[in-house]
Formats: sequence, structure tokens, C-alpha cells
Amino acid sequence: MDAPKKRIFSGIKPSGNLTLGSYIGAIKNWVALQDEYDCLYCVVDMHAITVRQDPALLRRRTLEQLAQYIACGLDPERNIMYIQSHVPAHAELSWVLGCYTMFGELSRMTQFKDKSRKNADNINAGLFTYPVLMAADILLYQADLVPVGEDQKQHVEIARDIANRFNNVYSQTFTLPEPFIPKTGARVMSLADPMSKMSKSEQDGDGCICLLDKPDDIMRAFKRAVTDSETCVRFDKENKPGVSNLMTIYSAATGKSFEDIENEFAGRGYGDFKAAVGESVVELLRPVREKTEDLLKNKDYLEQIYTEGARRAAFLASKTLDKVYRKVGFVKQPRI
Ligand code: TRP
Repeated sequence: MDAPKKRIFSGIKPSGNLTLGSYIGAIKNWVALQDEYDCLYCVVDMHAITVRQDPALLRRRTLEQLAQYIACGLDPERNIMYIQSHVPAHAELSWVLGCYTMFGELSRMTQFKDKSRKNADNINAGLFTYPVLMAADILLYQADLVPVGEDQKQHVEIARDIANRFNNVYSQTFTLPEPFIPKTGARVMSLADPMSKMSKSEQDGDGCICLLDKPDDIMRAFKRAVTDSETCVRFDKENKPGVSNLMTIYSAATGKSFEDIENEFAGRGYGDFKAAVGESVVELLRPVREKTEDLLKNKDYLEQIYTEGARRAAFLASKTLDKVYRKVGFVKQPRI
């Protein structure tokens, strides 16, 4: 018999539109993992409300994001795809885990410090306990691996620390998760400021491409992309961050190596190069946009997907939560 597949959990907050960065840096990898692993891919709406959201917009983006997961190639049959707030066990486990997480360790989280600086008028307790909810997401499903970007590694590590602490007090309960940062997980930088990440939260400017952007807008953003004063297409992250970022994107969109790209554009100006990158992205995103638009016309189908996803997730989650409640000493829940 085959060894059981390892389990993967990951999620993205619906706090902004998905970007080319989310696609190349995260979802494309999720798609590659779906055969080899047993995967749960969640739309983490509960995490999104740690910063103020417009309710109608949050609702729309949550559904859009689920549709985009599917449009990017994630198969709702092979993966469990659902919306976090539909499975109450996340909040329930989060409370318990919060009692095994220290104030000091939460205070040291880089994302908390960053976000408190950026949202100085709303440093709410949810922002502080964000890593506990994320630990609950991961530990509920006994995930082995958590595909995340570098910036989320610290959150997976604290989940591991919490799991370890709980296991030591009560005997083996949680699988210790590991961050899984795929080698091909290219980090896409802003087109306007190639020193900072292409970000959903700063997506008003020209620096960010969203998955649903129209071809003309995509071409315009690439034509305006910041480069440097040389004219040579060469990969050099330190000295040529803009050009290197465009090469990363072009490589992800076309499968060409950096060497191929350098040869292709040898002796040609940045104008040609930027237009070619723009076109490759237009073609990369065209099917994703079209499929998303189709899916969004079919709300019944989407509802069916997230209902089935929540049902399957809730089943797995209840096994862990029952165990946890028993271990901490809660009286067995009556049927109500
Ligand atoms: N914190 C993650 C982010 O900001 C999103 C997230 C929430 C997540 N829960 C998760 C990622 C569980 C991986 C696993 O991107």
C-alpha cells in the first residue's frame, strides 16, 4: 500500500484582490502540489478583519478569491477548498491555543509590530492574537507542511512552538508543522518600487497587477515599470532590481530560463523587453480572468464548492478539536 500522503494547509486573506505576486509566488505552487499531497486551501476571512474591511467588499472578494483559486487550476475535488468562517472549529481551537501562547512571544512577532505601526489607530486584540488563529488553522488539520512566503515563516514557527508546548503538557496531540518554501516560489516585487513586495494592500498604484486586470491595464503597467539607467537585460538583483523582477515574471510566465531571456534581449532596448513581459503576463492571466468571470456568473456552483469544502474540513477539524477538548478536561459535549 502507498504511504499516506502528507497534508498541506495554506490560505490567503481576502483583504485585497489577488495579484500576479499571489499567483506566481503562491497559488501556482499550490497547483503543483495538489497531486502529491493531501491539501486544504482556505480563504481566511477571519484573519482579514484584523484590519478594518468594507463588509460588502469583503464578501465579494471572498467569493472572488475562491473562484480565482479554481480558475488558477486548483481542483475542488482533489483539494479541500473552503471559507475559514464556515468552520467554527478554527475559532474554537484558537481560544484553547491562546491559553498556551505567551504574551511575550506574541509581542515579538514581526508582522504584529509592522501592522501596529501601519494601523496605529486600530491596534486591536485580533491583530495581536492573529498568530494563534493561524496556528489553529494549521494544527486543526494536522498539517505536515505549510507553503508560505518568507514573511510568514515566523508564524509557522510559532504554530510549531504552540503545538510542541501542548504536546508536552498533554501527550502527542498535534503534528508539528513545517514551513514549506518551494524553491520555485519566485517573489514578485512591485513594478513601481522593485525593492518592496508586490502587495495587495498597496494595489492602487501602477506597481501591482491584479489577476482580474484587463490587458490594456497590464500593458500600461509594464511599460511604466521602473528599471535602471543601463540598457542591458541581465539578472542582478542587487544592482538591477527592476530588470531582475521583470525577468523573474517573464520566466514564470513563459518557462524560459534567465539565460534564454538574456540572449533573447541581447542588444535590444528595455522598451521591447517590457512589452514582451507585458504580453506574456496578459496571456498568462487571460484564461484565469475568463474562467473567474464564468465562475462568478455561476453562484450556485461556487456555493456548492464551498459548502462541500466546509463539510469535509469540518469533519477533519472535529477529530482534532474533540481530542483537544478531552485532553484539557472539558466535559464531553452533549448533543444539542
Ligand atoms: N497569515 C497568512 C498571510 O498573511 C495567511 C494565513 C492565515 C495562512 N492562516 C494561514 C497561511 C494558515 C498559511 C496557513 O499570508
